[in-house]
Amino acid sequence: MSDYLLEMKTIVKEFSGVKALDGIDLKVRPGEVVGLCGENGAGKSTLMKVLSAVHPHGTWSGEIIWEGQPLEARTIRRTERAGIVIVHQELMLVPELSVAENIFLGREVASRGGVLDYEAMNAKASRLMADLKMSHVNVALPVSHYSGGILQLIEIAKALGKNAKLLILDEPTSALSQSETRTLLDLVRGLKDRNIACVYISHKLEEIEAICDTVAVIRDGQFIGQAPMAALTVDKIIHMMVGRELKEKYPREPHAIGEVVFDVRHVTCHDPINPDKKKVDDVSFTVRAGEILGIAGLVGAGRTEMASALFGHYKGPHSVDIHLDGRRIEVKTPQDAVSHGICMVPEDRKRHGIVPLLGIGQNITLAVLPRFARFGLIDEAAEFSVIGHEIDAMSIKTASPLLAITSLSGGNQQKAVVAKMLLPKPRVLILDEPTRGVDVGAKYEIYKLIYGLAKDGIAIVMMSSELPEVLGISDRVLVIGDGEVRGDFVNDGTLTQEKILTAALTKRRQAA
Ligand SMILES: Nc1ncnc2c1ncn2[C@@H]1O[C@H](COP(=O)(O)OP(=O)(O)OP(=O)(O)O)[C@@H](O)[C@H]1O
Ligand SMILES: [Mg+2]
Repeated sequence: MSDYLLEMKTIVKEFSGVKALDGIDLKVRPGEVVGLCGENGAGKSTLMKVLSAVHPHGTWSGEIIWEGQPLEARTIRRTERAGIVIVHQELMLVPELSVAENIFLGREVASRGGVLDYEAMNAKASRLMADLKMSHVNVALPVSHYSGGILQLIEIAKALGKNAKLLILDEPTSALSQSETRTLLDLVRGLKDRNIACVYISHKLEEIEAICDTVAVIRDGQFIGQAPMAALTVDKIIHMMVGRELKEKYPREPHAIGEVVFDVRHVTCHDPINPDKKKVDDVSFTVRAGEILGIAGLVGAGRTEMASALFGHYKGPHSVDIHLDGRRIEVKTPQDAVSHGICMVPEDRKRHGIVPLLGIGQNITLAVLPRFARFGLIDEAAEFSVIGHEIDAMSIKTASPLLAITSLSGGNQQKAVVAKMLLPKPRVLILDEPTRGVDVGAKYEIYKLIYGLAKDGIAIVMMSSELPEVLGISDRVLVIGDGEVRGDFVNDGTLTQEKILTAALTKRRQAA
């Protein structure tokens, strides 16, 4: 009998003639945590989709040996029965169904008469959420009630409810706060005691270093190697990933800061379902031309709600008073916002950022299409040259801009959304987690872009739960906790992660 739970051998997967995977090997022992690393578009998600039969047997070549036997699965149901459970990079929850219904989707608990036993399902779902320190989530509420890290944790609870021998986590922490991340990492470490193995995909290499027994690296669909973490370092992994050394992380450059451009007063957002509760409570701030204002806070602090209120698409009752260049403006819809020069790169690209049915190019030029209109027709040559330029500038990895946007890897979709929002040449740019799921090299590219925009005098608001990133590129940092402003710091080199976290956790006003 082999030592391995799983052996993938020389896997090759093509999409319309282009090899996304070109001979990949991967070995996993029972109870082992294997990190899977590679740049955006390297083929990590594709490899895991081959393993879990999202890409069924027959659509790729190579061999999968599972518990010593060839596995030729054609359906996800089959791989799940074998004990392979995947949490995808893109969330797959059904917003209208409750948290518990999502967790038990396809495996509903029925009582003897065949009627769904909601009480039992809710109780089990609550227990799974409690394991993730998420007892405050009401599992009977629709998933659409929640956002950000909580959605990711619901996905993970759903996977943990199945009987996994191998759990695949594809970028599980990109939407999690530091404390949620810690809980998840502890949980992954604990899988070993239950003899559950894990393939862990992340661009956060500190996480890989902290929890992985071995690390496999792929680059451009090629297998680079798999080695014990003990024999590696983060720098070595980066070197394997990109094939060269990366020197700096943040391209900080001095830039001039001008007059106040964006003046936001008294943003208050009520919970759409429970209007007595405030998600954002009277937040005011200003941003100057060329200034990068970082907004830090724990996940669930209200940053995303605030961003959507500023962009005119917050769903619940809210009030906000926005002044642009000293004049009060009305922002009731995203169209209003864009027409005033306020653009946003949203946190949840699947829900708000991309139009899945359109091509990559069409997505990029969506917000500026009128610019290419000539006598009622679209000047396609002009549009194409702009698209080509953006794809190069952002190094979006694709065979053709005509392909569907959903054919791009996660990080490359994110780059396309950033490109789309930069094209309208905004006055104010709101970036909500702009580097979510983006690899180390591409992060640097996005930071350079943000600096370029600041130099052009654009006022930039960047929400990020990655504190090193906030500290790495912001001129000023606004700290939000529980919907209220809890700190406003100049990032002059003395600001630290600890100061930000302490501020985030320290109440300003006593609850009435
Ligand atoms: N359905 C598809 N059709 C066409 N091409 C695809 C499809 N799915 C993936 N690809 C291509 O395969 C390559 C590998 O993509 P994959 O999603 O596996 O990358 P990844 O390593 O997970 O990247 P990321 O870190 O950005 O998530 C990319 O070039 C991608 O464009
Ligand atoms: Mg991926």
